[in-house]
Amino acid sequence: MAAFHRRRTAAHAGNERAKANQHKRGKRTARERLTALLDEGSFNELDEFARHRSSNFGLDKTRFDGDGVVTGLGTIEGRPVAVFAHDFTVLGGSLGEVFGSKIVKVQELALKLGCPIIGINDSGGARIQEGVASIALFAELFRRNVEASGVIPQISLMMGPSAGGAVYSPALTDFTVMVDKTSHMFITGPDVIKTVTGESVGFEELGGGHTHNAVSGNAHYLASDEDDAFEYVKDLLSFLPQNNMADAPIFEAAADLARTPEDEALDTLVPDAANQPYDIKAVLAAVLDDGDFLEVQELFAPNIVIGFGRVEGQSVGIIANQPMQLAGTLDINASEKAARFVRTCDAFNVPILTFVDVPGFLPGTDQEWNGIIRRGAKLIYAYGEATVPLITLITRKAYGGAYCVMGSKQLGADINLAWPTGQIAVMGAQGAANIVYRKRLAAAQEAGEDVEALRADLVDEYEEALLNPYLAAERGYIDAVIAPSETRERIVRSLRSLRNKRATMPPKKHGNIPL
Ligand code: HXC
Repeated sequence: MAAFHRRRTAAHAGNERAKANQHKRGKRTARERLTALLDEGSFNELDEFARHRSSNFGLDKTRFDGDGVVTGLGTIEGRPVAVFAHDFTVLGGSLGEVFGSKIVKVQELALKLGCPIIGINDSGGARIQEGVASIALFAELFRRNVEASGVIPQISLMMGPSAGGAVYSPALTDFTVMVDKTSHMFITGPDVIKTVTGESVGFEELGGGHTHNAVSGNAHYLASDEDDAFEYVKDLLSFLPQNNMADAPIFEAAADLARTPEDEALDTLVPDAANQPYDIKAVLAAVLDDGDFLEVQELFAPNIVIGFGRVEGQSVGIIANQPMQLAGTLDINASEKAARFVRTCDAFNVPILTFVDVPGFLPGTDQEWNGIIRRGAKLIYAYGEATVPLITLITRKAYGGAYCVMGSKQLGADINLAWPTGQIAVMGAQGAANIVYRKRLAAAQEAGEDVEALRADLVDEYEEALLNPYLAAERGYIDAVIAPSETRERIVRSLRSLRNKRATMPPKKHGNIPL
């Protein structure tokens, strides 16, 4: 009976005051969170009685069963997952030697089992009393994160503080979900910043959910509360395979290829004026099953849209320029956002649909000096090494380097489509006319002719000759110029054709993506 008594105390580690504090802040305890995340009755706990052996600074008086982290295996929608949840009510969820070893154990198990691992983070970081053992265990965690990267999906839920080097474990995972107002991530906190740089900044502004979703791009979703965060993670998992050797779940649903009113509406989506924006999400809504799109990093670099959907019940990744934001230009943030997502999809066998309407890279010293060359190259690299089925549709502009970058045939796309409104060229008509006809325009000016009328004629001439999809189609760079209302049908049929694609990169230790 003593053993059962101990079992009860293990399940209720953390004192009542700490638990009440946790609830007062809108936060749940580790076990309550696992109950919300996992299928009912599926949790198989590991190391329930593990506890630290340190006596530093009176730590021997606080030896809680479980040591402040709950680890184990369970299922979500019937699919196996590995989990760990920091318990902030025990020593502030701080990570010591035993705590860290428990996480390492479940990380290794997840890799062996080939199942996703989900970490619920709510911790004061390295357990100060345990000194070097704590930080060493962090490094062990990081190494397991790296080993598992691209093999099993790794998802981090941020549900409290995460400070110092502790933020790097979530940063190494595939997706980071933060809960608004109750989660924070930073390398150095407000006090240290104030001391070192004199800057005054609060927790929320420095490293709250909104900051990391909208400004730094470290997070992928801003959840309104813990339930919203769990729902998002469950949705994410439904688009992902268990591991890199498997396919994402398929919900068999043969598409009805007869045109729908949503398909027909695409015929009038692109405005006549080249500079007038439209919402690329209207195309996604028409193409994806039930119009369902799970957006990733919605608040960061909105000039490119990424996320998951399904076509005929099969998971697809979406990369799409958004003409409504910065005219859909590619900048550093958009390039890195899309590059990481292309690699995520490629690692986990999710076909990629790319929708292109891009006038080019965003000009400016800010972009140049911050490394748009090196950082924009990541997107080229990501597409260039992707071996999953790649389908690209050009809806309007595909100019210059940005044409190359956005899933061009030459970078390895399998099927490239364009709407008749596609404009595939080195640059837009105004810029091109000014360069190509500079001497002629200058001569007209000197001769006192109507330069603007001439410029307009030359722009028309350029548009007529080069700003269309047919020159690319003549060369096989575009496989078909399709009516917008045909889009869904063509994508469905293309995905069917590509389902058994087999492609590999030459053997190498690893590539050297520009970082
Ligand atoms: C030991 C810790 C702890 C820690 C919190 N606690 N952090 N114990 N090591 N790192 C304990 C507190 O002493 C307290 O115990 C209980 O947890 C709850 O903490 P509070 O401070 O009361 O809670 P709160 O006011 O909510 O503040 C939370 C906090 C703060 C912001 C996280 O506790 C804090 O700043 N902690 C230190 C954070 C930190 O600097 N960590 C090291 C980061 S560097 P009692 O007994 O009083 O209830 C790092 C390196 C990683 O992690 C290395 C990777 C390479």
